[in-house]
Amino acid sequence: MADTPSKEAWSSRLGVILAVAGSAVGLGNFLRFPGLAAQYGGGAFMIAYFISLLLLGIPIGWAEWTMGRRGGLAGFHSSPGIFYSIVKHPLGKYLGLFGFIVPVMVYMYYVYIEAWCLGYALNAAMGTFSEPGVNFGEFFTKFTGAGQDGASIQFGLHDVGIFVLLVYVFNFYFIYRGINKGVELVCKWAMPILILIALLILGRVLTLGTPDLAKPEQSVINGLGYMWNPKEISTGLKNPQLWLAAAGQIFFSLSVGFGAIITYASYLRRKDDVVLSGLTAASANEFCEVGLGGLITVPAAFVFLGAAGIVGQGTFALGFNVLPYVFSQMPAGAFFATIFFLLLFLAAVTSSLSMLQPGIAFFEEGLGLGRKQAMMFLGLLTAIGTSLVWWFSKDLKALDTIDFWVGTVCIFIGGAALIIVFGWVIGIDRGFDEAHEGAEMRIPRFYKPIMKYITPLYLGVIFVMFILANVFGWNFSFAEPKFAPTGYITDLVGPNHSNSARMTFGFIVITIIFICMMIKLAGKRWDAARNGGNKS
Ligand code: ALA
Repeated sequence: MADTPSKEAWSSRLGVILAVAGSAVGLGNFLRFPGLAAQYGGGAFMIAYFISLLLLGIPIGWAEWTMGRRGGLAGFHSSPGIFYSIVKHPLGKYLGLFGFIVPVMVYMYYVYIEAWCLGYALNAAMGTFSEPGVNFGEFFTKFTGAGQDGASIQFGLHDVGIFVLLVYVFNFYFIYRGINKGVELVCKWAMPILILIALLILGRVLTLGTPDLAKPEQSVINGLGYMWNPKEISTGLKNPQLWLAAAGQIFFSLSVGFGAIITYASYLRRKDDVVLSGLTAASANEFCEVGLGGLITVPAAFVFLGAAGIVGQGTFALGFNVLPYVFSQMPAGAFFATIFFLLLFLAAVTSSLSMLQPGIAFFEEGLGLGRKQAMMFLGLLTAIGTSLVWWFSKDLKALDTIDFWVGTVCIFIGGAALIIVFGWVIGIDRGFDEAHEGAEMRIPRFYKPIMKYITPLYLGVIFVMFILANVFGWNFSFAEPKFAPTGYITDLVGPNHSNSARMTFGFIVITIIFICMMIKLAGKRWDAARNGGNKS
């Protein structure tokens, strides 16, 4: 076992559920989900989304909770350590690599967006968005540096700089305070507050009626219809991209395969329930995503801009460009804009904290560092990545590159590692027995074949399709040209490559190699501890 066992633990069951739900509920719920659902035509997307929830999100989540608790009981809290304690092979620890790489590298850009949310909340409160003639697009470009590399390394109220520093201090302060006095405390406050804020905004959006009587079609009812009415379901379901987007959203939104849940669950005790807790945290996320996020962003934009104002808007444009304009058109708009961006900020904070704990846990138990040193090490590593994202801000290239290669590709692989180890290495019967230790509900029996065969198969098919579509650029037809490499590839190779994307990709590769070396070192420490009689 790790020779520096943690004394950390959750103070209550509600605490751990709120923390996992806090990790899940984030920008994905209020920005990414509404954007995707609207883009893929509501109804059809939701069918693929719920199938992915039932076949990927919930079962892999149960596997992650169970493996995390088991690893914690063996004295490990980091993903490499937990995999090492389960897969008794020298290479086993490397299966846990993704549970380190994903949270730590997603944090590098997630925190940058978190800083936008805080900056936008403050600007909304100071009346920036209510000034006559404000150009929301120009503000966004300047604030985020999307127009030019290095342009956002400035520190005024209308620049992201000071907010990046503030969110770093905030996150690292609470992570330093530990699981119970830091993460749990923040989540206990932030989660109820963000739900209250979301309900308040939802109430406002649903009572907007038809603000411009000259445009009677731009009503709330039509806005909800635009988001949710089933449109061309059978055509939609034949679109492989829709299935890929739905599966990707489930992973990102539930923080499954992220490395966050496995670490949080490792602070549970032997008889603590994981089955009901896992389902409760997933349900809380779905309530926030479908029930709140799905009813606010797109209907609000539709009421003021109509369908034409939403179509083709990316996630960021919708959240940081369209919505400030929409709020500026509402009575008490500055107030609603302020609380909306505060809501995004709170959602982002609880998620970003969950991305730091896996890294801290690894440096503590893998390298034997104290909490302060582990925090400084992780602070340095993430700061390098965030600086890259901050500097290479033109077209948000560095952010996009990490989001694709780590925040999407690596999550799929991390999810696959979890479910395969659960179903095939631990074994589905033993895995089920372990999951049910202390459980307050039973997992339906039909989930046994699902978790053993269907989830890995479904994941495999989705992953192969994803790589074919997004890496090789297959257009899912046999007509010529069958393959047209997407921007993620042409950014890296060929005449139109982007130096920022190349630098960022190089950084990802170097970080992965560096972490593999750290895992090797950690393995030596763990072996020495094991051979010294401290067997787990
Ligand atoms: N699960 C987090 C989100 O949805 C990362 O934003």
